[in-house]
Amino acid sequence: MLNVGLLGAGRIAGVHATAITTHPGSRLVAVSDINAEAAAKLAKQYGAEARTTDAILNDPAINAVLIATSTDTHSDLIERATAAGKAVLCEKPVDLSLARALACQKTVAPSGKPVMIGFNRRFDPNFAALKAALDKGEIGKAELLSITSFDPAPPPVAYIKVSGGLFRDMMIHDFDMANFIMGAAPVTVSAVGTSIVDPAIGEAGDVDTAVVTLTYADGRIAVIKNSRRAVYGYDQRVELLGSEGLLQAQNMLENTLVKSTTAGVTGAKPTYFFLERYMPAYKAEWAAFVEAVANGAALPVTLADGINALAMAEAATQSAKTGQPVTLASVTG
Ligand SMILES: NC(=O)c1ccc[n+]([C@@H]2O[C@H](COP(=O)([O-])OP(=O)(O)OC[C@H]3O[C@@H](n4cnc5c(N)ncnc54)[C@H](O)[C@@H]3O)[C@@H](O)[C@H]2O)c1
Repeated sequence: MLNVGLLGAGRIAGVHATAITTHPGSRLVAVSDINAEAAAKLAKQYGAEARTTDAILNDPAINAVLIATSTDTHSDLIERATAAGKAVLCEKPVDLSLARALACQKTVAPSGKPVMIGFNRRFDPNFAALKAALDKGEIGKAELLSITSFDPAPPPVAYIKVSGGLFRDMMIHDFDMANFIMGAAPVTVSAVGTSIVDPAIGEAGDVDTAVVTLTYADGRIAVIKNSRRAVYGYDQRVELLGSEGLLQAQNMLENTLVKSTTAGVTGAKPTYFFLERYMPAYKAEWAAFVEAVANGAALPVTLADGINALAMAEAATQSAKTGQPVTLASVTG
């Protein structure tokens, strides 16, 4: 049985608390948050104790921690948790700063403790099926990847200001998805961004709509499209053109009803947002972590994967500012 401490008691922590407590191989022992009230509430809801982060890290009976705190705390908490001997699953992104994330990787490496980064979309059954079909050679060789990722509505500008920007906060998932599917890092990253949805997002120094093109050493291309607003719901699709066919992972819909009348043919909207769309993925992600830790097996998503995606976010942020393609090598040094 994996005894777990949950750090953070915000939006995503609730999702993880569900995954931890519904898995037969894990038990949620304690929850911490700098907002003690939030920790107490979440702990009570899931039959756990509210404690300080120190108390969780100093408890030898706790084997693993799940870090679901604000992004600017991730590197520090990964370092403290691994130093305390815990296995770690940390939410994306690793950090707001690539340099800080690289320093964190150096610090934790000697501990040998497993650190997994929460790129939950790899565990979405639709995207996992696409990857499996590609790996089985069902469409020949991958040539052109297209990822569409639109949120239903933008977050508050106060969130945008501390998020690290669209490329680090939102498109980071799509950078990891590109790495997952293409099985290699790109050579160049070219980005354009605009704040057409909400000028206040632009005033806060961010973009809310962006397109990134990735080129690969062997000639392959990937295109990622992000928007903070799609009025019809959470639009999450992946399309991969190969030498012998096409794979398309479509949206999950609220229901499968299709109404056909003289007025036309209509169907349900995509599920509203990440909680609705990705709950099976969060559960599968947690199950993969528990299994790897229990068996001492390799983690399916590593700290290095988190850093690779962050480097692409850094390159895209630079490219969107300068209008020039940025080589990944120039960012990672
Ligand atoms: N994988 C996904 O789909 C997904 C979805 C949403 C958020 N996230 C990531 O999860 C993280 C949290 O996002 P959220 O939306 O839940 O934010 P949130 O603001 O709802 O929750 C963050 C919580 O962390 C607490 N906190 C901050 N610093 C702390 C510290 N030092 N120690 C303990 N608690 C601390 C805050 O008080 C807050 O309750 C972010 O890094 C975000 O990028 C991932």
